[in-house]
Order: sequence, then structure tokens, then C-alpha cells
Amino acid sequence: MINQIETFLIRQFEDDSHRLKHIYGVRSVAVELAQIHHANVYEVEVASLLHDVMKNASYEAQLDMIKDPVVIDYFKDVPVAYHAAAGYYYAKDNLGITNPTILEAIFYHMWGKIDMSLETMIVCVSDFCEPNRIYPKAKEIYKLAKVDIELAFIEAIGSTIDYLRKHGVEPFKDQLKIYEYYTKKKGLV
Ligand SMILES: [Fe+2]
Ligand SMILES: [Fe+2]
Repeated sequence: MINQIETFLIRQFEDDSHRLKHIYGVRSVAVELAQIHHANVYEVEVASLLHDVMKNASYEAQLDMIKDPVVIDYFKDVPVAYHAAAGYYYAKDNLGITNPTILEAIFYHMWGKIDMSLETMIVCVSDFCEPNRIYPKAKEIYKLAKVDIELAFIEAIGSTIDYLRKHGVEPFKDQLKIYEYYTKKKGLV
């Protein structure tokens, strides 16, 4: 399965080596974190390889893949999230993936969800801190993730929220809710 996905990705991203490098970067960090935190390595590996599978598709193609009007409406204020939902449907409908943990991790790789699986959290954090990410926080979050994955997740989402606000963009409502949920759960507020 992994070999087939890799072959498919190489073809899919033959004109975008940057994206392919990012995907492989997420996979390598995610597998390392899964081993450290005793998550399911196979699920994490498949989800991280497929998390951005629809990233380069047009919005029209992403919406076509999603089809479900409820999902389309839900993300209408954050169209950047359509690639994650479209990736979920691509994995499910085109690649025949039925494993709910893999599908959850693809769908929610942008900012996770309340009560997400450990595998989803690992994919989210790895997407933020894989070695090709050049922002300064990435290295710090990678180090933290090896020790405390939940704290690394909180830091990653918190820094994204700060970045958006600094640039005059109001974060997505669920991004804030999820951040609050995990900061409270961790006893930080
Ligand atoms: Fe993504
Ligand atoms: Fe990504």
C-alpha cells in the first residue's frame, strides 16, 4: 500500500517537487513521532503521505471531490481547508481507504478536532514542523513534539492563530475552539 501511494504521489506531483518534499518531510517526522508516542505507525504514515493529495487541485476540483454541501458550506469562510476535506474524499472514494483513523487524520490535518486521535494530532504537528518548514517556531515545536505531543500541538495551533491575527485574519471558529479545548485540558488556562 505504502509503495503504491508513493508511486502515485511521484506522478501526481511530478511538476511540484517542493510539495513532494514537504509530504515526505511530514511522513518522516510523523513516523518518528508515532514510534516515540506509541501511535499506529502505518496509519500515521498513510495519512501523512495523503494529507495534501488535493492541495494543488483547483477549488472547483476540490469541491467536485467533496460533493457534500454540508462540508462545502462548513468551510466556506476558510476555502484553504477544502484541500483537506477533498483529500479525505479522494482517499476514501478514489483509493478505497476505509480506515477511520487514516481518514480522520487527512480530513483534520489543518487544525485537528476536539477529541482527535493521537494519529491525527501527530499528522497536524508534523505538517507544522517538518524539516522543510522555515519559520523559526518549526524547530522548537519539533523538539517539543518528541517530548510532549499535546503541548506541541497547542503551541503549533497557538502560533498559527497569532500569525493570522497579526495579519488581520480572524482564525476559523473551530480552530479557536479546538485550541481552547486543548489548553484547558492541559491545565494551561
Ligand atoms: Fe494541507
Ligand atoms: Fe501539508
